[in-house]
Amino acid sequence: MNWSSTSMRFKRCFCTLMVVFSLSCVIGLFADPKMEKTINDLLGKMTLEEKIGQMTLYTSGWATTGAKMDDNYMDYIKTGKCGAIFNALTAEYTKKLQKVAVESSRLKIPLIFGYDVIHGHRTIMPIPLAEACSWDMAAIEKSCRIAAIEASAEGINWTFAPMVDIARDPRWGRVAEGSGEDTYLGCLIAKARVKGFQGDDLSKPDTIIACAKHYAAYGGAQGGRDYNSVDVSERTLFETYLPPFKACVEAGVGSFMTAFNDLSGVPCTANKFLLTKVLHDLWGFNGFVVTDYTSINELVPHGIAANEEEAGKLSVLAGVDMDMEGGVYMKYLAKQVKDGIVPMNRIDEAVKRILIAKWKLGLFEDPYRYCDENRQREMVLNPKHLAFSLEMAKKSMVLLQNEKNILPLRKDIKKIAVIGPLASSTEDLLGSWHAAGDGKKPVSVLDSIKEIVNPGVEVLYAQGCDITESSHSGFQKAIETAKEADVIILTIGERESMSGEASSRSDIDLPGVQNDLVEAIATVKKPTVAVLFNGRPLTITKLTKKVDAILEAWFPGTMGGKAVAEVVFGDYNPSGKLTISFPRSVGQIPIYYNMKNTGRPIDPKNKYTSKYIDIPNTPLYPFGWGLSYTTFKYSGLTLSSKTIGEKDVLKISVDVKNEGKMGGEETVQLYVRNIAGSVTRPVKELKGYKKVQLNPSETKKVEFELNSNDLAFYRFDMSWGPEAGNFEVFVGGNSQETLNGKFELKMASAQ
Ligand code: GLC
Repeated sequence: MNWSSTSMRFKRCFCTLMVVFSLSCVIGLFADPKMEKTINDLLGKMTLEEKIGQMTLYTSGWATTGAKMDDNYMDYIKTGKCGAIFNALTAEYTKKLQKVAVESSRLKIPLIFGYDVIHGHRTIMPIPLAEACSWDMAAIEKSCRIAAIEASAEGINWTFAPMVDIARDPRWGRVAEGSGEDTYLGCLIAKARVKGFQGDDLSKPDTIIACAKHYAAYGGAQGGRDYNSVDVSERTLFETYLPPFKACVEAGVGSFMTAFNDLSGVPCTANKFLLTKVLHDLWGFNGFVVTDYTSINELVPHGIAANEEEAGKLSVLAGVDMDMEGGVYMKYLAKQVKDGIVPMNRIDEAVKRILIAKWKLGLFEDPYRYCDENRQREMVLNPKHLAFSLEMAKKSMVLLQNEKNILPLRKDIKKIAVIGPLASSTEDLLGSWHAAGDGKKPVSVLDSIKEIVNPGVEVLYAQGCDITESSHSGFQKAIETAKEADVIILTIGERESMSGEASSRSDIDLPGVQNDLVEAIATVKKPTVAVLFNGRPLTITKLTKKVDAILEAWFPGTMGGKAVAEVVFGDYNPSGKLTISFPRSVGQIPIYYNMKNTGRPIDPKNKYTSKYIDIPNTPLYPFGWGLSYTTFKYSGLTLSSKTIGEKDVLKISVDVKNEGKMGGEETVQLYVRNIAGSVTRPVKELKGYKKVQLNPSETKKVEFELNSNDLAFYRFDMSWGPEAGNFEVFVGGNSQETLNGKFELKMASAQ
């Protein structure tokens, strides 16, 4: 990536921004004169070591999310060498640590407590990728609001979320934590999550600071192998990976976390372009930046620092304000300041950002604000939270296949066989990063099915096989059980620990011998439904041929078992839509809907076109895919004009009819294609969507508006804006089956 050309472009808009930016700095950072005075007075009293202490984050002994470096966090708190603690839970324990900070340390600066509240705190919600498939921003915001209410009741005031990494490679285990492959949707979800966590006032005891992570482009890890290098063009960086982070800044996110990866040769944790030029200078971010777990230390194996001392210098000068668990700032920064290698004003800048965050949380006013045991008892696992988790889980599920409409099942079926390694599991329902969630809390799918069917219905069960083991010893019993039943429900997929951090897979089909189990059960030739539990798209091509219906349940959270039962037996009509493509084979990766057309787009009749000779180019299930128990018919696509000018609004409408016998919700999607630009453009891009509820036989006219800003992109010279030209419009229930229209954008100003 040639940053010099980038810096040229930034220079053009940089100066104007700097005037605005410095004004906002004076106004924004110190909007509160009392805060300004308190923090400046405090800064004046702090020793250099105490300042560096505020820049140091350590994990408590309560839980760990990485290799522990040092257990002396209590001493560090007492001596002002550590201003932030993560992985410390409960009102009682955080109160104990806070007491040490505000009563024993010299300046009595309160601690900030961080934790990975990724999809719920004690009441676990569906994994973020699942929630994304609800396309319901209000519900996603509420999910984070509830997480914040429960976490803050246990002393947490800072979450390491939302994870906003766009990901196009499902081999990467962390696709589970994000919103999928689309940037437009990723931006909406990023904003909803920040607003959910932070609420409208961080000083309220039930709001917590959010943290946009992992900055940046972590989802582009080569080979989908976690922590691997990322090498993308400046255009891809700005067009695909950065917008959700910018959306977090626009939503007022209080912190950022650097990513482990190197980005086009420069590790994010030492990347001044990302951490200072873009984040602060261009976007006007006024929060603080924390590293990911020991990622300063990792600059040495990355090969850009000879030792940790050098690594610390690179990070602090690049714009990292706080060192997570690495202890590098604590060890080396004071000497580097005294030796004039690191300027004191950089230390003061970092400390101010951190103290402002503590101020905004109200911790100076009341350090024990988040240590309320009564609120903890009342809020944690509150029945209203569990009820919402159930609703969220149902909204997140995606009906992938429903041959012969065998779903929904009737509740009076005589005999049902539940077969598979995830039927009785509870911990796996919680998914990766379920942190404080109790794996024993959920009701299993098997027990939930037993609860929902009519009295007298017999529910049989056989595990059949393990999730990953290679033994076929359980097959015979499973086959016999299946033979006794009228309908079979397969509960198959991954273990919760097979996605999330450090969980990349080179083969993303069903693990173990589950495909063999499916094959064996298929010989029984009974109506068969497969319920999938997984943290990433799986190449389930074989499965699709062996069963009648497939429900994607992801890892649905604390109430996931009940949610599966209510969807399978028709209490809820599934409405989820995929936000990440399902490949047919791992060999197709990367495969995503908004790819480029190439100069030789696939033509089955022409050998010399861009395709594989052994598989179609299309995914098994495309972005936006999701069936319903009813059917929706699209007709009457209408554009208000064939041509629009730069200031015009194009109105687009389509009629959607529910042709089935069941009410349902459809997510009507609007895509656009720029046929020819100054650079190649994706074959389609999501530009809007509307969720509509339709009763049987009901028709609704769904309307969208587009203007030239919606058509803007990074043009040939990397300037942002629209270009005149011809466009196609696609409207439908997924990214592949659409009604299409055309229009032209005419620009008055020459480009
Ligand atoms: C982990 C993860 C990061 C998490 C942090 C603290 O390594 O990469 O997402 O927030 O450490 O647990």
